[in-house]
Amino acid sequence: MKQITLLSEAFKNLKTVGTITFSSKFLVNDIIAPVDFAKARCIVELGAGDGCITKALLAKMRPDAILISFEINDKFCDIIRKDINDSRLHLICDSAEKIGEYLKQNGFEKADFIVSSVPLVVLPKPIARNIEEEVRNTLASGGAFVHLSYSPLQLKKFEKMFSSVQLHFTLLNVPPAFVYICRQAA
Ligand SMILES: C[S@@+](CC[C@H](N)C(=O)[O-])C[C@H]1O[C@@H](n2cnc3c(N)ncnc32)[C@H](O)[C@@H]1O
Repeated sequence: MKQITLLSEAFKNLKTVGTITFSSKFLVNDIIAPVDFAKARCIVELGAGDGCITKALLAKMRPDAILISFEINDKFCDIIRKDINDSRLHLICDSAEKIGEYLKQNGFEKADFIVSSVPLVVLPKPIARNIEEEVRNTLASGGAFVHLSYSPLQLKKFEKMFSSVQLHFTLLNVPPAFVYICRQAA
């Protein structure tokens, strides 16, 4: 059912959904691996989709941590509302361009970790730029921005934005994917 919703939403909104399958469990594991769950009090997720990464984050988060998850697609937001009942999750059915605004509403200035699967490569350039600017402004020192992409060509851009960047390749996903692990020095 979720795959049918994804397929029809992907064809209607190719430039925002950016894929025709949700992330595999192997890819989800690789995306959440860099998160220090013992330390993280505030995690932000960009592009929650069906909630596959959302659920994996919640399963490992501290009981006193919060997860602010952005998703612009109403159908995907409905799936998450039906599937996930966890008071630590703040689902924001709005654009990831507004990270700072929603962090403040929830009593935070900065996010310890930002986990993203928004398709920055295919989104309209001004929207992608706004999201990247927000990530840069709201990521805490010592934190990390973990970004899923199907392109390795964002490496130079991220190297200019962050103290260090590692690029990881996950074969066990359709299509195989890249995970950028971008750290901001403490
Ligand atoms: C590639 S899908 C990833 C879905 C899921 N997290 C996964 O890993 O399978 C990208 C998601 O980002 C969402 N998205 C695109 N632009 C967005 C924006 N500006 N703000 C929030 N979400 C956005 C899309 O609707 C879509 O659900």
